Amino acid sequence: MAETGQDLKKAASLLNEGEVVAIPTETVYGLAGNAFSEKTIRKIFEVKKRPLTDPLIVHVSNIKAIEPLVDNFPDLARKLFEAFSPGPITILLPKSVKIPDIVTNSSPYVAVRIPNHPLTRQLLESIDFPLVAPSANPFGALSPSTAEHVQKGIGNKIPYILDGGPCQVGLESTIIQIVNETEIRILRPGGISEEKLMVFAEISQLETMDKQVVPGSMFSHYAPQKPLLLDALTEVLKQYSPNQIGLLAFGLKSILIPIENQFMLSESGNLEEAAQNLFQGLHYLDSISVEVIVAANIPENGLGKAINDRLKRAAAKRI
Ligand code: TXA
Ligand code: MG
Repeated sequence: MAETGQDLKKAASLLNEGEVVAIPTETVYGLAGNAFSEKTIRKIFEVKKRPLTDPLIVHVSNIKAIEPLVDNFPDLARKLFEAFSPGPITILLPKSVKIPDIVTNSSPYVAVRIPNHPLTRQLLESIDFPLVAPSANPFGALSPSTAEHVQKGIGNKIPYILDGGPCQVGLESTIIQIVNETEIRILRPGGISEEKLMVFAEISQLETMDKQVVPGSMFSHYAPQKPLLLDALTEVLKQYSPNQIGLLAFGLKSILIPIENQFMLSESGNLEEAAQNLFQGLHYLDSISVEVIVAANIPENGLGKAINDRLKRAAAKRI
């Protein structure tokens, strides 16, 4: 089992030695390592059992720290970082030679973000290299939004988890591409909604071919162990008894299944709150003695879009 605590010095010295450390961010926990060390990066891929073809996001503490990592820093990217950072936005930028090819799977673009968590910000300021950090879960499994989730998923393979409490946003960062000075493309919906981005740029639609650009958008992903079905309670009740069903509820609980088998994302229908609770709810329902998980319908506006994206991928596994 990994040691867990808030010891920033310990986390920094492990990272300096080329070790991997789980770190808290506002979105989900990341499995961090020195972005300049190929050996460390290989360790990250091994721990997660992640294919080398799936590139990693580079995390830095401020906008200035991005400059040496990129060959070109378009004004629009700078504006977006100024508006939303530190926070859940990741932007693809032309990489400089400082970024090893293994980080990007040899793509000329590197994904960069400035995470918003006080512990991780302090950690980044105390070391002299950026951190690559994919979500700290086994590849394809549910993302971790608490230190306990990390412990359960990969705790036996890493030396230390920096415990920063439950993640406040709860959904991974929104990943965007800069199309030109006025236009962006969303590669992965996430913690910054389309509505917020629209204030700064036109949003062009993702073409089907481009979907392969982001392997995190592979269809089955973020998946619990148990089958997950979307908005299908009536159907599922024909095949399972109520105590075999776990419900990821939104707004209202159901009178049809036991209350202890239900996890409420947001009683008041608040999408930020639902996002924050999403992975916690899926981890919980995956751990209790039910056989199938049903997710309630979530509206498709604001963060609802990213929540539905994760739910669809989580559900794709068994269909
Ligand atoms: O909120 C987040 O972004 C979290 C926290 C830990 O920062 N990180 C995260 O990393 O979600 P990960 O590796 O689980 O998902 C990152 C996604 C992957 O699907 C990857 O394919 C894509 O970003 N990505 C990373 N670098 C890329 C690049 N150079 N080009 C295209 N896609 C890239
Ligand atoms: Mg991930």
